[in-house]
Amino acid sequence: MHRYASAAAGVAEAEEVPLKARANSEILRTSNLRKIFTSGGQEIAPVNGIDFSVAEGEMISIVGPSGAGKSTFLHLLAALDTPTSGEVYFAGDSLGSLKEAELAEYRNQSVGFVWQRHHLLPDFSAAENVAMPLLVRGRPLAEGLRTAKQWLGEVGLTDRAGQPAGQLSGGEQQRVAIARSLVNSPALLLADEPTGDLDERNAEGVFELMQRLHKSHHLTSIVATHNLSLAGRTGRVFLLEHGKLGECKDALAETAGSLEKIASAGAQTSGERVTRV
Ligand SMILES: Nc1ncnc2c1ncn2[C@@H]1O[C@H](COP(=O)(O)OP(=O)(O)OP(=O)(O)O)[C@@H](O)[C@H]1O
Ligand SMILES: [Mg+2]
Repeated sequence: MHRYASAAAGVAEAEEVPLKARANSEILRTSNLRKIFTSGGQEIAPVNGIDFSVAEGEMISIVGPSGAGKSTFLHLLAALDTPTSGEVYFAGDSLGSLKEAELAEYRNQSVGFVWQRHHLLPDFSAAENVAMPLLVRGRPLAEGLRTAKQWLGEVGLTDRAGQPAGQLSGGEQQRVAIARSLVNSPALLLADEPTGDLDERNAEGVFELMQRLHKSHHLTSIVATHNLSLAGRTGRVFLLEHGKLGECKDALAETAGSLEKIASAGAQTSGERVTRV
């Protein structure tokens, strides 16, 4: 499959063709994507026939009620989960047609994933955590740590490189998680509620950092968030609800409308119930 890297100059392999050179083309697409879970004897389809297309270089946000399926959708895009039916295409390749080794390479090198709960190893240093995806790829420790420190510089944490991740603040831990997600210079940055556990000031700082890295490394970024004011600052906003993804054309106005919808939907929804698969 294609190996599309971001243009992470100076911090990763320089031989890759930067995405900047291939702007305005589709990098990610889903076709009639469905994911059905069976839970308590009932089937729910948080992703129920989604057609979605993202061009290289876009920054997109996905909003929706808790339980609507945002994480499920991002996991399918990242090949962390497999669809019940339908396809995800990355750079024209169907993920469903890839061999396991190619899928592992896609997850490790083409996608950077930021989890809501950062999943850092608390006893390992910030630099060791950031280096982890490089070590998984078989890079030597010294090289991994060197690259990790460069990325920690990018997220403003040069002076925390040797500190155990468990001793960092929530905002700092999320910055480490962002550095870790980008250490392999992926083309895609998928972030699942990256500011969900942060106070307003830290959420703002982390979101601004993601916007800056998105631009400076020519990423394609998709961010699931409950924070509608942050979502309104991305190029396109999508509402995921009842298994479907709809674009909010006028991001700010519609997002505000969606906020009321989300609030009135209550704290929890459970995807689209299906009676027949
Ligand atoms: N492995 C699973 N087995 C059964 N049901 C699942 C599984 N994973 C998710 N679900 C269900 O799918 C629905 C969508 O969950 P998902 O975590 O994708 O929602 P979400 O939009 O990310 O919610 P939140 O905003 O709270 O993070 C929920 O009803 C959830 O209970
Ligand atoms: Mg979620």
